[in-house]
Amino acid sequence: MSGAWLVVCLASSLMQDTDPKPQFKEKYFPQIIDHFNFNVMGNGTYEQRYLITDEYWKRGSGPIFFYTGNEGDIWEFALNSGFITELAAQQRALVIFAEHRYYGKSLPFGQDSFNIPEVGLLTVEQALADYAIMITELKQQLGASACPVIVFGGSYGGMLSVYMRLRYPNIVAGALAASAPILSTAGMGESKQFFQDVTSDFENYAPECRDAVRGAFQRLQDLAQMEDYGRIQSAFSLCKTPSSYKDIHQLNGLLRNAFTLMAMLDYPYSTHFMGSMPANPVKVACDTMLGGADLLHALKDTAGIVYNSTGDLTCFDLYTLYVECADPTGCGLGFNSLAWDYQACTEIEMCYESNNVSDMFPPMPFTEKHREQYCSKRWGVIPRPGWLKTQFWGDALSTASNIIFSNGDLDPWANGGVRSELNVFEEANDADPASVIKARKMESDTIAQWTVTVVKGCSIKYFNLDIYTNLKQVHSFIVNQVTLWHIL
Ligand SMILES: *[C@@H]1O[C@H](CO)[C@@H](O)[C@H](O)[C@H]1NC(C)=O
Ligand SMILES: *[C@@H]1O[C@H](CO)[C@@H](O)[C@H](O)[C@H]1NC(C)=O
Ligand SMILES: *[C@@H]1O[C@H](CO)[C@@H](O)[C@H](O)[C@H]1NC(C)=O
Repeated sequence: MSGAWLVVCLASSLMQDTDPKPQFKEKYFPQIIDHFNFNVMGNGTYEQRYLITDEYWKRGSGPIFFYTGNEGDIWEFALNSGFITELAAQQRALVIFAEHRYYGKSLPFGQDSFNIPEVGLLTVEQALADYAIMITELKQQLGASACPVIVFGGSYGGMLSVYMRLRYPNIVAGALAASAPILSTAGMGESKQFFQDVTSDFENYAPECRDAVRGAFQRLQDLAQMEDYGRIQSAFSLCKTPSSYKDIHQLNGLLRNAFTLMAMLDYPYSTHFMGSMPANPVKVACDTMLGGADLLHALKDTAGIVYNSTGDLTCFDLYTLYVECADPTGCGLGFNSLAWDYQACTEIEMCYESNNVSDMFPPMPFTEKHREQYCSKRWGVIPRPGWLKTQFWGDALSTASNIIFSNGDLDPWANGGVRSELNVFEEANDADPASVIKARKMESDTIAQWTVTVVKGCSIKYFNLDIYTNLKQVHSFIVNQVTLWHIL
């Protein structure tokens, strides 16, 4: 899911921020290393990084917007959340971005953090406890004990926001979760869903695009079957000649990952990942796939959109550009990828596979059995399927409250999240175009009332941003909702 955090908060995809960037101060919080065992680490602490800005804050009474950091450097998230900044300015909120333990600079054991057993304190529960303690202590330090806390996050960070509200409702008044795959990561998804959704993004642009991709992978497979490794090397500008089934598997993984990233980052403006991704990468990819005379070269150039965005790549190095891990949707590179790999080996279930039937990629099975083998070899752990669902409720969320889920329909993570928990709000959502148009015309005071109804009438709010073509309306819903949580 590495690229997944880039599935920007509802936030930046919704509203291009026009405001100047807030001036975050970078700070460190002495955090308990082990919240759940009083003996092993005793009262030992580590330095947990967080960013804070009080430039919008109505001191002492404005709400606190707390970003539950996910799998990456906290600055990356803070600099990509224009919507939250805007909301904070309107609501006069204090804004805090907390870094997740074992990511960025928040390494409990420094360079040794990814050794066994040091890595063992990387769990969802420890991360939530970190946030709960940080919120509680910072509120005290800042004279903010009366200020309601609203947590927010995207992707895995969105899952954490939801969990914070479930686990620590005494501390958190509400949660705003964007593209949070809380069901699929709890083992309640379908293994083929993710790559099927990635495929749909390309197919929806042009069915021929899907066919071309499938055809190119087929050509590659034919060459591999003939063990024509020289042709494969030249067609894909590989640094080394592949020589085994393992190398071809790696090449397939690297290529598939390029499509995954482009689907996740399919925004109408350019984004940054390993250099920069062009605006509308799916379109760019399909134009490349369909423009080349030779399918294999077209496939290579399409992968280049991701791996060679700088134009500096002289050859593709199979094992450094992409690292296979317990998350078939990608772990990224560097330290952060180790942490995510470990999480995918323990609580977070990511058993997605491609099959060339419901998707356009070569069959690459990744079952619970594969996961177990990989994880016990890599980290000495056996995953516990079902544990996340047991702990964090799965889809049995009817007694939860004050959670907003948002999804973009093009986002391949959307189907792993909460889409079906319909309610008052969703009914309005389901309406025919005429009522949508009518709804759009609603005056803001009507909308304010309507959100109150929603809050009273049901617990889970779910947005389909694509039905809400009027972004201002969605925006206004969220603003009103957050105001309400603030007041309550
Ligand atoms: C841990 O506890 C000991 C004994 O009470 C105390 O001396 C020490 O300062 C504590 N360390 C931290 C980091 O709180
Ligand atoms: C994918 O499926 C198609 C049929 O839809 C088949 O012709 C092709 O050989 C398959 N490709 C691979 C790589 O398995
Ligand atoms: C990377 O892009 C540059 C500029 O488009 C191109 O000249 C080069 O051949 C590409 N590298 C590879 C390995 O395809």
